[in-house]
Amino acid sequence: MSIQSYDNIRAVEWHDGGLRLLDQRLLPHLEQWLTFSDALAVARAIRDMVVRGAPAIGITAAYGVVLAAQQRYEESSEHWKSLIEEDFKRLAESRPTAVNLFWALDRMKILLAGIDANPVVSLLAEAKLIHAEDIAANLHMGKLGAELIGGPCAVLTHCNAGALATGGVGTALGVIRIAYAAGKVNHVFADETRPWLQGARLTAWEMVQDNIPVTLIAEGAAATLMKQGKVKWVVVGSDRIAANGDVANKIGTYSLATNARHHGVKFMVVAPTSTVDMTIACGDKIPIEERPQAEVLSLAGTRIAPDGVHAWNPSFDVTPADLVDVIVTEKGVVEAPTVVKMAEMMKG
Ligand code: MRU
Repeated sequence: MSIQSYDNIRAVEWHDGGLRLLDQRLLPHLEQWLTFSDALAVARAIRDMVVRGAPAIGITAAYGVVLAAQQRYEESSEHWKSLIEEDFKRLAESRPTAVNLFWALDRMKILLAGIDANPVVSLLAEAKLIHAEDIAANLHMGKLGAELIGGPCAVLTHCNAGALATGGVGTALGVIRIAYAAGKVNHVFADETRPWLQGARLTAWEMVQDNIPVTLIAEGAAATLMKQGKVKWVVVGSDRIAANGDVANKIGTYSLATNARHHGVKFMVVAPTSTVDMTIACGDKIPIEERPQAEVLSLAGTRIAPDGVHAWNPSFDVTPADLVDVIVTEKGVVEAPTVVKMAEMMKG
């Protein structure tokens, strides 16, 4: 089957002058779209994870700037440029780790700097371009990553790096979809991904939508899965990659990479260059979001831990570059990443 058969899901849409987001907090039980015409509401939606996943956050923020420009130009065609600064600030404060957010805001800001008349048409064209580029990057990375996978095998993925997290077929799930269509992947194991359960709720849902065989595991089962030789590759996305190839991704990714190396399982990171932060030398400098304790202390809204206990809830971790076998971007493949190889890849 062609990849088109596996490219059916979208989570971010510009429609009739407004932004539409599939509310990912409600999946897989409810497919509910929310419409936004206000930039601050978009910032809140990113913070509250109506939309999540690094590229999807960047695309959403770009459309958020369009909404801000609409509002601010209407408010004052004279002072809109200074008024919109507050919207940029609020969008930038929504989540700290995924660099795609800041990359998209910077891109919109650079364009905006050269505009004095009504900016909405130009900004909307730029946001749509960011969106379209991500769709194209997903497909290209999917092909590059799938080429690396040798033969029919099962793979393990973590969190959700799929259509819900991007503009197109996904990063890690883009590779998996294309490799499945080519007969190179025959089964997907998905980590449930405590505490927000992106694996159980979102990745499993995406695979079921596409009729790709999927088995859900608790994170604690991953090492045993690898030891029993059940997977040949771990394929994940990223929220920010440092200049030396260190990879920030959903908490638990570092454990998977350590376990993969120990068991001779290959570890692939798939991310567009909008996720690569060449201003950060190594992973130690990547800001790691800490989310509310309640996400760990409760499950589906029900408290599971005794009163009086505290929780620590870092949302991301950093996998050192030396545990990464390959980084796949739309500009090419970097095996055993180093500072020099990353710089060469970024030059394209
Ligand atoms: O907290 P989330 O759900 O936004 O975290 C998402 C991830 O960690 C993804 O793996 C990453 O953004 C890559 S998405 C293509």
